[in-house]
Amino acid sequence: MKEKLQAMLESAKAELTTAADSRFLQDVKVKYFGKKGELTAIMKEMGKLSKEERPKIGQLANEVRTEIEDLINSKLEEIKAQELEKKLASETIDVTLPAKNFRRGGLHPSTQTLNTLIDIFLGMGYTVAEGPEVETVKHNFDDLNSPIDHPSRSESDTFYFNSELLLRTHTSPVQIRTMLANKPPIKIISPGRAFRKDEIDATHSPMFHQIEGLVVGENVTMTDLKGTLNEFVKILFGEDIKTKFRPHYFPFTEPSAEMDVSCYKCHGKGCKFCGNSGWIEILGCGMVHPNVLTNCGIDPEKYTGFAFGMGLDRLTLLKYEIGDIRLLFENDIRFLAQF
Ligand code: PHE
Repeated sequence: MKEKLQAMLESAKAELTTAADSRFLQDVKVKYFGKKGELTAIMKEMGKLSKEERPKIGQLANEVRTEIEDLINSKLEEIKAQELEKKLASETIDVTLPAKNFRRGGLHPSTQTLNTLIDIFLGMGYTVAEGPEVETVKHNFDDLNSPIDHPSRSESDTFYFNSELLLRTHTSPVQIRTMLANKPPIKIISPGRAFRKDEIDATHSPMFHQIEGLVVGENVTMTDLKGTLNEFVKILFGEDIKTKFRPHYFPFTEPSAEMDVSCYKCHGKGCKFCGNSGWIEILGCGMVHPNVLTNCGIDPEKYTGFAFGMGLDRLTLLKYEIGDIRLLFENDIRFLAQF
């Protein structure tokens, strides 16, 4: 039995030198220590030994067992280290490789126009005010002095939720909200979405963007309005831009005007861009109607104000010479990547 044990140890040693992976080691373990393992078999035979021999062989068997186990364990460490090294070698990262290109996004042209306008007006001391897109009829029409039979009030022009709520048709209700909540002096711009029941075509969209301006204070005059807007278009389109104010009608301003700028492509000579007129219409404006001030609890004898409103999308189309408003809302990346 002693010889058997020694022979077992020798053959185990020999086997283990050839071990190449952890699976093989597992097999060796089973071969000797498993239920039907060689060492297990010897242990089972121990009962047959004499009293004197049993402890000696028992001790030897234990020694052989620990030696084989130690060998297996140290081999396992070795193999694990090798396997890790192999894995690392096959997964090396070449840090000198140039990085993959990543596409950098940009701001939507409408957002760029909006940012430009906000910058210009913040520079003139305005602050930005916002209001809800779901508005009351009161804020959108009544308080803005809109006559009860004004066409914009009709179901065919405006999206109504019910007789009191609608999708705002312009950003002008923000004027009302601002005046109700603040005492003059007031100096705000309010950019945002507006909604009208327009058929979609190259120049119309049922959802579009406006930016509104409102100034209320003592001694605010039409001259201030003109000076402000002249300055604004010069920053936006260039120093040589001229403006023209044509009388117009808005319920909430009196007097009211539409403002044209001289065509910045042909400098007023007339071209395809301006429809040969030399002028391009860009906004509506006027002196805040006394009724509107009164509706908002502001004394029209003491305070006056001016307001203006323009289509942001239209400005974007003009500025970037884009021929169709739908392009701004389709979000085709091939189009947007040009800006
Ligand atoms: N609210 C007007 C519109 O939507 C624009 C406007 C605003 C006109 C303020 C005058 C003063 O057409």
